Amino acid sequence: MMTLSEVEEVSGYIGNFKVRVRRKARFVDVKECNACDKCAEVCPVVVPDEFQHGFSSRKAAYIPHPQAVPSAYVIDMVQCLGNNPIACAKCVEACEKKCIDLNMQDEIVELDVGTIIVATGMGVYDPTPLDEYGYTRFPNVVTSMEFERLICGSGPTNGHLVRPSDQQTPKRIGFIQCVGSRTENRGNPYCSNVCCMNTVKDSLLIKEHYPNTEIYVFYMDIRAFGKGFEDLFRRSKEEGVHYIRGLPGEITEDPATGNLILKVENTTAARVEEYELDMVVLSLGLEPAEDLSKLAGILNLSLSSDGFVMESHPKLKPVDAPTPGIYFAGCVEAPKDVKDSVTQAGAAAARSSIILNAGTITSEAIKAVVELDKCTSCGVCVKVCPYKAINVDVKAKTGAQIVAAACAGCGTCAAECKFDAITMQHFTDEQILAQIDAALEQEPEEKTLAFLCNWCSYGGGDLAGTSRFKYPPNNRFIRTMCSGRVDEKFILHAFEKGAPIVLLSGCHIGDCHYIDANHWTKRRAEKLWARLEKLGIRPERLQLEWISSAEGARFARIMRELEEMRQKVTPEEIEHTKKALAEYRLSKKKSKEEEETPEPQPEPA
Ligand code: FES
Repeated sequence: MMTLSEVEEVSGYIGNFKVRVRRKARFVDVKECNACDKCAEVCPVVVPDEFQHGFSSRKAAYIPHPQAVPSAYVIDMVQCLGNNPIACAKCVEACEKKCIDLNMQDEIVELDVGTIIVATGMGVYDPTPLDEYGYTRFPNVVTSMEFERLICGSGPTNGHLVRPSDQQTPKRIGFIQCVGSRTENRGNPYCSNVCCMNTVKDSLLIKEHYPNTEIYVFYMDIRAFGKGFEDLFRRSKEEGVHYIRGLPGEITEDPATGNLILKVENTTAARVEEYELDMVVLSLGLEPAEDLSKLAGILNLSLSSDGFVMESHPKLKPVDAPTPGIYFAGCVEAPKDVKDSVTQAGAAAARSSIILNAGTITSEAIKAVVELDKCTSCGVCVKVCPYKAINVDVKAKTGAQIVAAACAGCGTCAAECKFDAITMQHFTDEQILAQIDAALEQEPEEKTLAFLCNWCSYGGGDLAGTSRFKYPPNNRFIRTMCSGRVDEKFILHAFEKGAPIVLLSGCHIGDCHYIDANHWTKRRAEKLWARLEKLGIRPERLQLEWISSAEGARFARIMRELEEMRQKVTPEEIEHTKKALAEYRLSKKKSKEEEETPEPQPEPA
């Protein structure tokens, strides 16, 4: 176990990752330290204790929290006077075991690992911007995290519940739910999953130790869906906790008493009510861990729009990252409680063990393959590969080399290769062109051709079908693993074949199952719109839509709209398109042949 350490770089692929870790200097030899506390006793520096949320203080020599692993001291070098010109170094003198070294340096460790489990935990919403609740203005408005410390046996008050302003035991406490959760503009749009039950638990804890306390919970919904949770909620109501449906609009303070006046619209009773409380607890929503986006960059992970990591498949591979060999556990993936985190950790460990014990791995056959005789070592494929699965030495012209274990099969490299040097197994150019030909074989002017990515748009279409949403029957769908696979030549071929409208559709930006491959789809579509315009073809005839697998109704609506567009494309327009594209194709072919024809060499004298 490497504590106080940070992953700085990860390279390689499943079974062969190389990880560079910075072990930060803790200035104490952990093997020798027996946590005797002598260093902290003599340390003159006193700063707020972060673990106790500033309700108590610590020294610059300290143990971060009661169950810290290892149970050894660490020196906070930002606060320590040891490095100043007036050196203190009292702790060095006081330590009988001589385990403090103020000149200790960070250490870089290189590790070879087969798999990686990401379990970075979560952060919490900062309620400071919600001015109406008065957090930071009124001392007796505290967050749920601060409240945890106030009722904890190892907390700053040894578990005696007191309010911050006067250290008196509060007699009326209010909890405000969904602070920073389930809102569009005052936090995050998602439900944080654990806050309701955390409040129920806190209310029971208070009632156990202080039975006469009046407790009010202000909520919009109570979500008690886990095993035994509804019982706990019922028990809390039976103990006399008042649940009031409505979120407070304003909190003010009575400066004389420090009491808080809370105004709320009780939506069950349909009236505005006012409560005088000794203390208010803001039940904070959860957020992705700080620096998760930095780690995602290092590990090549994709993040969903809410900032948590995205799993390979929400139902079938819920603990796998899209990058093979990387797994998730806990709140790194979404807010969850302890039980779900433990379950997921077990699953991640088991998934990881399968790889580690196998020795060899079997992977999907959908992989990129390079035809080296066509490859010019231009390096474009290396740039676009979301998995860093392609190597090429541009100077030595080695040709592109695919790391098969790392290739996930999105097909972006094949679509971007100008020299047709990359083939996607099972989604070859020939196969896709043949599908286009088949789809447009009869009455192409009556058809709308759609390229759908396997994971989102195709799922959206599937849902539209199973939900019996109506859309016109003259659409023809071609499925690719990712929208990144859709080469511009497929689209131009479809138009040349007489398609009035072509749809290019993939997962929403940020949701692509191949990290960020659909960014290349977007770029390609933008280039194509410009090209179509130059050729005198209306760019609107190529539509780009991001559709998720949950958007069945939207899928059907888009298909109906495309049909309206199709009806407006005239036969003359289609004829002009065919002619313009045939000419464009021939001119491209000619210039390619000219490029490939060697210059005539002068006759020897
Ligand atoms: Fe859907 Fe990439 S997987 S766009």
